[in-house]
Amino acid sequence: MRVLSGMRPTGRLHLGHLAGVLSQWKQLQDKYECLFMSADLHALLSEYKDPSQIGVYSRDNIADWLAWGISPESSTIFIQSQVKQHIELFFIFSAFTPLGWLTRCPTFKDQVKQLKDKDINNLGFLGYPVLQAADILIYKAGYVPVGEDQLPHLEISREIARRFNFLYKKEIFPYPQPILSPAPKLLGTDGRKMSKSYQNCIYLSDSPEEVESKVKNMFTDPQRIKRTQAGRPQICNVYSYYELFAPDVREEIKQDCLAAKIGCTDCKKKLAGILKKLLEPARDKKENLLKKKGYISDIIDSGRKKAEVLAEETLSQVKETMPFAR
Ligand code: TRP
Ligand code: SF4
Repeated sequence: MRVLSGMRPTGRLHLGHLAGVLSQWKQLQDKYECLFMSADLHALLSEYKDPSQIGVYSRDNIADWLAWGISPESSTIFIQSQVKQHIELFFIFSAFTPLGWLTRCPTFKDQVKQLKDKDINNLGFLGYPVLQAADILIYKAGYVPVGEDQLPHLEISREIARRFNFLYKKEIFPYPQPILSPAPKLLGTDGRKMSKSYQNCIYLSDSPEEVESKVKNMFTDPQRIKRTQAGRPQICNVYSYYELFAPDVREEIKQDCLAAKIGCTDCKKKLAGILKKLLEPARDKKENLLKKKGYISDIIDSGRKKAEVLAEETLSQVKETMPFAR
């Protein structure tokens, strides 16, 4: 069974990505044939006013995947726009995808509300789920690891597969199932939703100094004013980082906090130390990978070639099944 997943290259990767998507991809690559894609065309749909960073983030994200253990030997790593078959299949799908499926899609309605400043009332953006369906179905992927927010898109992918198979009377496409990513309840350092526009993320590539100063400024239990007061780890944002990233000491910290045996300053110092240690090896590895001339480009290139072969296979089946250019 094939697995395909993608990430939009709209920024650097942070601890939220590590706890969610990346750790899941790593597990899946040992069990399935995996394709991991940087979805730069999807990024373009929201970033078209200044698309200059998309390519930079694409390569930077892929360097992080590699540094964190996504293996170019066992997985196919590629950039969406380089495999042109996605767009061709997207176009064919758009011939028979009813507009109602797209305008009713909850993510579309949400995004139009949320991203008012980005002005995404465009043809392309409406077709977002159709392109995603093409991404998945061009590899006949059976499983798609995604966050909960992506479930409506997978539903549309299955509907498109069903409609194709029905209209052209051949079971070409499977009905891809989601594999839900663990949804880490990780907030930004200020306690708000993690987002690059709030500048509250700890990035995987942050230097030790950056990690230290970000952790130092983290919000803690707001009711714990004096060192002698007990804290409430269950509502403390600092503690939620311990939960995810420090399985060996989290219980001890929890008890010490509840018993006022540790102060918030020390608690944060300790967390900073743990995070620095966690990030360091992969950050060094990434730097080395980026230094090796052509290394990452070669991986992206061979990923494209592998993906192209699979994509072309499906596309020719599609054209065979619904001949329109003969
Ligand atoms: N829409 C996905 C997201 O924002 C990214 C994506 C694009 C994707 N194509 C995909 C995910 C195909 C899974 C499969 O997270
Ligand atoms: Fe949060 Fe740690 Fe302070 Fe407890 S001691 S409130 S866990 S920062």
